[in-house]
Amino acid sequence: MVGFGELDRLAAENVELRRLLTEAQRTAAAATADQRTLEEQLRQAQKMEAIGNLTAGIAHDFNNMLSVIMPTLEVVAGFLPNERKPIMHEASHAARRASELARQLMSFAGRSPSAQRAHHSSHEIVDAATRICAPMFGAELHLATVYEDSAAALYCNAGQLEQVLVNLLLNARDAVVAAGPPRGHVIVRVSVRRRRAERSAPELDPWVWIQVSDDGVGMTDEVRARVFEPFFTTKGLGRGTGLGLATSYAIVRDHEGRIECASHAGFGTTFTITLPASSPNAAKQHAAEAE
Ligand SMILES: Nc1ncnc2c1ncn2[C@@H]1O[C@H](COP(=O)(O)OP(=O)(O)OP(=O)(O)O)[C@@H](O)[C@H]1O
Ligand SMILES: [Mg+2]
Repeated sequence: MVGFGELDRLAAENVELRRLLTEAQRTAAAATADQRTLEEQLRQAQKMEAIGNLTAGIAHDFNNMLSVIMPTLEVVAGFLPNERKPIMHEASHAARRASELARQLMSFAGRSPSAQRAHHSSHEIVDAATRICAPMFGAELHLATVYEDSAAALYCNAGQLEQVLVNLLLNARDAVVAAGPPRGHVIVRVSVRRRRAERSAPELDPWVWIQVSDDGVGMTDEVRARVFEPFFTTKGLGRGTGLGLATSYAIVRDHEGRIECASHAGFGTTFTITLPASSPNAAKQHAAEAE
């Protein structure tokens, strides 16, 4: 015979076992989700690596051919009578555009030769990019910059990071123009936040956060999932190459940073770039060496 005391004990044990089981199931579900995210990141990294290698190969051959075509065009132009020269201008213009495309492809593939780095103020980089884009925004659109903290130093190639921000700002402009009034707001927020470079890192390091938000047309989940793919564009033939964000992704990755996109169709988009700030000591030492 089992006494009441024994039944109570078994019931309590049963409750405890159920609690432990639920907890174990929850932990297992979280581990599976973590694993899925890691697998997804690995797949994305492998895909970008493969596309990068292919792209670099094509861009390299492309450049070789252009290095023959461009000087030849100049020589041929020299033989032409003046009234025929405009034809050659067109051809030279197209060749220069092709060369610019090859340069962009190399930069996407991480093979850009001009990736020299130095310490730069985060605010100066953002200022330079917004100054380049301001004339392309027009009076009816609003472009604002908010500096939430004082500037941090970034060890970077300033030209490349400006290129990333210009890509984001021009995409934002296209999105607000497509949405039409009363939309038309693009805001850049710059802040410095402390976080660990990796989960296991002992120290919190300063990171620069640059967010570019717009209240434009936004994206569907299908578009958002593909924005960093090279040659993915929704802008139609001749209007977009689909290399802006693929190149931006590669540049930010080369700077040990991250670029993420959040978007809601019909509401707008925010791109967030996080970059490790260079330590004040490294920046001071570099400044002393430069003097
Ligand atoms: N801020 C944004 N709002 C809505 N859609 C966007 C935004 N930024 C990017 N996209 C979508 O992502 C696609 C890819 O952008 P990406 O900058 O790589 O190429 P693109 O702008 O189409 O062409 P390119 O930059 O080469 O001229 C765009 O065609 C657009 O569909
Ligand atoms: Mg673009």
